[in-house]
Amino acid sequence: MKPNTNPPKTYRVKSFGCQMNVYDGERMAELLAEKGISEAPEGEDADLVVLNTCHIREKAAEKIYSDIGRLTKGKTQKKAPMIAVAGCVAQAEGEEIMKRAPAVSMVVGPQAYHRLPDMLDRAVKGERATDTDMPAIAKFDSLPQRKRRSPTAFLTVQEGCDKFCTYCVVPYTRGAEISRPFNDLIAEAHKLVEAGAREITLLGQNVNAWGGEDTKGNKVGLAGLIHALARIDGLERIRYTTSHPNDMDDALIAAHGEVDKLMPYLHLPVQSGNDRVLKAMNRSHTAESYLRLLERFREVRPDIALSGDFIVGFPGETEAEFEDTLKIVDEVRYSQAFSFKYSPRPGTPAATMENQIAKDVMDERLQRLQARLNRDQHAFNEALVGKTCDVLVERKGKLAGQWLGKSPWLTSVWFEDNGQIGDMVTVEIVEGGPNSLMGKLKQPAIA
Ligand code: 5AD
Ligand code: SF4
Repeated sequence: MKPNTNPPKTYRVKSFGCQMNVYDGERMAELLAEKGISEAPEGEDADLVVLNTCHIREKAAEKIYSDIGRLTKGKTQKKAPMIAVAGCVAQAEGEEIMKRAPAVSMVVGPQAYHRLPDMLDRAVKGERATDTDMPAIAKFDSLPQRKRRSPTAFLTVQEGCDKFCTYCVVPYTRGAEISRPFNDLIAEAHKLVEAGAREITLLGQNVNAWGGEDTKGNKVGLAGLIHALARIDGLERIRYTTSHPNDMDDALIAAHGEVDKLMPYLHLPVQSGNDRVLKAMNRSHTAESYLRLLERFREVRPDIALSGDFIVGFPGETEAEFEDTLKIVDEVRYSQAFSFKYSPRPGTPAATMENQIAKDVMDERLQRLQARLNRDQHAFNEALVGKTCDVLVERKGKLAGQWLGKSPWLTSVWFEDNGQIGDMVTVEIVEGGPNSLMGKLKQPAIA
């Protein structure tokens, strides 16, 4: 089927994968809104669908073709939506997508989506366009001002990765590490706060590798940026993700003890607890150096909640090596974590390594790992019972009068009240479940 060329009046952006993709999805939505296209109401078909794809693990590429199939199945060219494929699969397989899916009008990589409006003009004229250039910083300069109204917001400060972990596709799809300029970030944060954000999460594939020059021309790292953001009135919470152990510096660790607005939460992936596997992964840290680093965070912020990422079944991983991962989990006691089965990514060194691990072995290891991680998450939640904390209200619950927000430790907290999205309320934790906390309102928000 040829692509639909009707000028679209409504759009839908479907973002898969990481928070960076969510941020990119929001920015694409803002670009489309500037062109007078509005978001399709829930449950209604959109004239333009942007599939903002992820390439990190699952069979993402195949999923695109089934998504496109679903969008076009049983429809005529005029009835099917105009389709754009964005994100990391677009970057990795742009030409292939254009060949295999004739209904697609546009393929746009993660560093080129600021040109989406131009591509759209061409798509309406019947031209199919692929843009997978990687000029990185140029994108941010040509995006519209932030207008998004929400109590929590993402802010991309750094993009790309130079680490080349042997299993990972990110250095190829997102390109080399770049840091956005300090002043641009402060300006964007102000806009987000003016639009209602009370919490900002700084994003980057290696967010703690961020570096720039402050307004006085001094070289600063992420800690310097966080100190500056903390001075913005109305901004009450700052978070950052995802960090790499090797980019941690003294100033960032110290900031956790100095900046009240910096939340007591750290997501620091370790991937494996075994040094041979870590070396084969090209992680350039050891289990021991990782543990020592966490110790330093706990010294300055004893209540810090720790989170991590794990991969089981990396090529060649033995049972004993996997057990080292269980050991590190027992040592750290994470408040939450993300764990995955190794998935070979085309073009990465690990994909062609010998001794790929059988699926049933990976399944079994993942189950054992997740049982421990769940145990620790539940214990973390139970230990909060009786404590009082602030909750930033993000949305309504399913039941009338029920609200959901986040604690400083990034755990979800339910409570009952006639609250409002964006309120910062004080609750006492009365119950700690496996995935969330139940709170009792102690002090409503002061209007
Ligand atoms: N297979 C499985 N998990 C992966 N991750 C990255 N690449 C792969 C892969 N090929 C995981 C890592 C990373 C997280 C974002 O995704 O744990 O930290
Ligand atoms: Fe991928 Fe490693 Fe870079 Fe993280 S640090 S994005 S896992 S290459």
